[in-house]
Amino acid sequence: VLKEDPSLPAAVRIKLNDKSVELGDETKKGARVKVYGRIHHLRPQKHTTFITLKDGYGYLQCILQSGDLTKSYDALMFAQETALVLHGEMRSVPAGADAPDNRELHVDYYKVLGAAPSDLDAITNKVSMQQDVWDAQMLDNRHLVLRGENASAVMKLREFVELAFIDSYREMQFRKVSPPAMVQTQVEGGSTLFKYDYYGEEAYLTQSSQLYLETVIQSLGNVYCIEKSFRAEKSLTRRHLSEYTHVEAELDFIEFEDLLDHIEELISRVVDKVLADETARGYMKTLNPGFEKPALPFLRMRYEEAIEWLNKQDPPIPNEEGNPHVFGDDIAEAAERRMTDIINRPILLTHFPVEIKAFYMKKDPNDLRVTESVDVLMPGVGEIVGGSMRMDDYDELIEAYKKNDISHEPYYWYTDQRKYGSSPHGGYGLGLERFLAWMANQHTVRTCSLYSRFMGRCKP
Ligand code: 4AD
Repeated sequence: VLKEDPSLPAAVRIKLNDKSVELGDETKKGARVKVYGRIHHLRPQKHTTFITLKDGYGYLQCILQSGDLTKSYDALMFAQETALVLHGEMRSVPAGADAPDNRELHVDYYKVLGAAPSDLDAITNKVSMQQDVWDAQMLDNRHLVLRGENASAVMKLREFVELAFIDSYREMQFRKVSPPAMVQTQVEGGSTLFKYDYYGEEAYLTQSSQLYLETVIQSLGNVYCIEKSFRAEKSLTRRHLSEYTHVEAELDFIEFEDLLDHIEELISRVVDKVLADETARGYMKTLNPGFEKPALPFLRMRYEEAIEWLNKQDPPIPNEEGNPHVFGDDIAEAAERRMTDIINRPILLTHFPVEIKAFYMKKDPNDLRVTESVDVLMPGVGEIVGGSMRMDDYDELIEAYKKNDISHEPYYWYTDQRKYGSSPHGGYGLGLERFLAWMANQHTVRTCSLYSRFMGRCKP
């Protein structure tokens, strides 16, 4: 059993991102510190064992000279993820050597706190196997995959992104609210509702907080929320989740153009804030080194122009049935993605036909076939935002319920807004995982969520 040398100076506990500790070298002693963490990487060599330690805050190279420190049973059992506390002297790395933050811990004492079997490589290393089998294995082992540098960097960046939204909204004087997740109304169509029994009544998990946001702009001004939304999506795509984080805002007394300008400004602010932070920039460098802030203004394109654009390509990009696109077609995910990737810059796609959009959307007074609606499309991901101006006329809304086979009774509170001082207003929802997939260059939103939920997956 290792014994700590009582003649050494007391070890001061630090986290691995603490840059303030004194580093020693050949000429002077560095600070003696105590670090808690897990083995990220282990390299036993003849004279020295190298451990890269991680603690969720940073990484540190730890050096154990061969001898008492390495011949114990504990040392023989070191493995990736072994939890331990190490004491030692902090030094700068010698010239020519490479280590995180250019420093290393010369260990003089340690204690294992939690051993680990040395099977992690077998779990998270891709041997020859089919992509889908591999993907499922990674998801089954998400709790261990999250221990990895990349998976955890995405989650760390996610926090910066979320905070950047909160800061941006504060600066723009939007008030944060928290609408309910348990509801009795639909927003985006009945086919993706998760139904459940609410004390004997039918209820749903919310698809969007929009309708609730619309009921508080009158008293709270412009509002936003960052809440979960739920969609019983019956297809498996790389950008659909059953539970996702929805950034939604509602703006009062605006015109459609104001809404477009605002969305552009928000995205721009959030990107600026993330890139302004040194730590976040570090994660961006790991995950998406080529990232550049998109130029403003974004390309604005009407739905009708997009249809023409798709048909004009050589070869033309067909609709889902393999035919040329016609006005009224939904632009399906594949076509939308092709278009976004070819144009290769953010697009504000506007003025979608009434028939393919939700019941609440306001019609364009200059072209009653279309709505004042917008999707923001990003290269690599496609749609990350959906928004619109809202129907503010009472009779028109009642008519829209009828047309969409929606019974108006459960919506009385929503309809009332058109009775008590209605106003031109609009808003949008942004999928946080999709936004992150764009910024962090992830192939799928599934790696942008801590534990993703989609058809067939509700564990871990
Ligand atoms: O376009 P959607 O359905 O719009 C609404 O829900 C509006 N009621 C929002 C509003 O105006 N307040 O969804 C908005 C965004 C999409 O652009 C997408 O980024 C994300 O939410 N989203 C999903 N993200 C992951 N998985 C899913 N199944 C998603 N469905 C929508």
